Amino acid sequence: MTPTDHWAAVAQRLGTDLFLDLQPDPTLSAHGRGAQLRRSLTTELRAAISDGRLPAGTQLPPYRSLAADLGVARGTVSAAYAELIAEGWLTARQGSGTVVAHTSTPSVLPNTRRKPDGPTHDFSLGAPTPSLFPRSDWIAATRVAITDAPHSAFGPGDPQGNYELREELSRYLARVRGVRTSPDNIVLTTSVHSALVSLCSNAVDGALAVEAFNMPFHRASIEAAGTPTLPIPIDRDGADVDTLSDGAYSDARAVLLTPSHQFPTGVALSPGRRAAVVAHARSRGMYIVEDDYDGELRYDREPIGALQGLAPDCVIYTGSVSKSLSPAVRTAWLVVPDAVVEPLVAAKGPREPDASIVDQLVLTQLIRTGAYDRHIRRSRQFYRKRRDHLVARLRDVGVDTGGVSAGLHIVLPCRPDAEDELLATAWRAGFLVFGLSQFRHPTAPPDGRGGIVVGFGSPPDSSFNADIDALAGLLAAFT
Ligand SMILES: Cc1ncc(COP(=O)(O)O)c(C=O)c1O
Repeated sequence: MTPTDHWAAVAQRLGTDLFLDLQPDPTLSAHGRGAQLRRSLTTELRAAISDGRLPAGTQLPPYRSLAADLGVARGTVSAAYAELIAEGWLTARQGSGTVVAHTSTPSVLPNTRRKPDGPTHDFSLGAPTPSLFPRSDWIAATRVAITDAPHSAFGPGDPQGNYELREELSRYLARVRGVRTSPDNIVLTTSVHSALVSLCSNAVDGALAVEAFNMPFHRASIEAAGTPTLPIPIDRDGADVDTLSDGAYSDARAVLLTPSHQFPTGVALSPGRRAAVVAHARSRGMYIVEDDYDGELRYDREPIGALQGLAPDCVIYTGSVSKSLSPAVRTAWLVVPDAVVEPLVAAKGPREPDASIVDQLVLTQLIRTGAYDRHIRRSRQFYRKRRDHLVARLRDVGVDTGGVSAGLHIVLPCRPDAEDELLATAWRAGFLVFGLSQFRHPTAPPDGRGGIVVGFGSPPDSSFNADIDALAGLLAAFT
């Protein structure tokens, strides 16, 4: 049987009159062939669904039998199915197998910023790998949480958010991040983004000092809420907080920092600077706003506890499940000193919590049972492997990353005058990557830094190795 006959026979099992042009390349290694088959299978199934050859409701064969027919590992087929399920092309229901979903085009792509003819190599930032979402744990936790919840849980709710989740979080954040708080000092919200906007609108009166490199979308929303931002320089010890004593910062009533893992440069705030910023905040009556955006995703450096643990009186701490679980969950927390609770709660009104109480019940259950911890451990292993592969592959082509100790992205430094050209070449070649200068505060003076910022959580598992190979090829051509 020729390879084409073989695949045509497989296609017969997927539906009548369906031909999938998979064309495995016999010259590839077993590993490369598996990855190529998975990509081809995913692409061809997507095309067959979108052009109607596989109509809605069509039952696909169990992946075990398809894998046996194709002579490939089960994981190859299950990964292809999982990717298409995550994208909304297929649905999987207990007892009825995997079927073509009822929308012929997915309504929401996993990355909604991706255009229909999106990048070939998606290294976008800010999201975990969607296929990691712990679906079974979430379903099991939902069943218990909704069954056990008292009727009152489905009433209007506490404006600070569900009390049980605040209790679980106060214990969890103490254990994992060294945060010192109580449920009464926690306000639940939908995201770090909304937490920052709410703080600036209701609790921080005056300007906000921010790191010279930061998240532009957060900065824009803070400024749109009427809070001017003032950049402070960054060096290898993190934000240079001594500059806060300069007259230029006299209007600043708070300083926003990412102390455990500066975004996006990746440095940690040194112990000396941690002590200095706390002393400065106390002496000036300022707040430190700590964005602990990926505090749990650390790989091989000593854990760095939250700054909040040093100074619960003047640090406002915020975090969310956007990186640890999914940005689709929309659950985040603010841990605030006593004086900040009241203005935040008053701004919400006497009834309305900001975020979904139903999701808060589920998350409570997930944390309580240890499933959340297990998921974080699994995710850490998964991303550590990705990180190791990325760093090794780049080293092969002479790019020294200096390691990546935490988080889901890496900055590959380059000369500032080379950044634009590198970026333009990358974009033309279908890479979704970012220039370090895109994160620079508009009034921050140049500091001789350039680079490209690459998110390694975004590529789907099915193409990760190929995406990294392509990135290595791109960078090799530039060195
Ligand atoms: C600097 C920074 N802070 C916070 C977050 C978490 O964002 P959110 O909770 O608003 O989804 C991210 C996510 O990418 C981030 O990059």
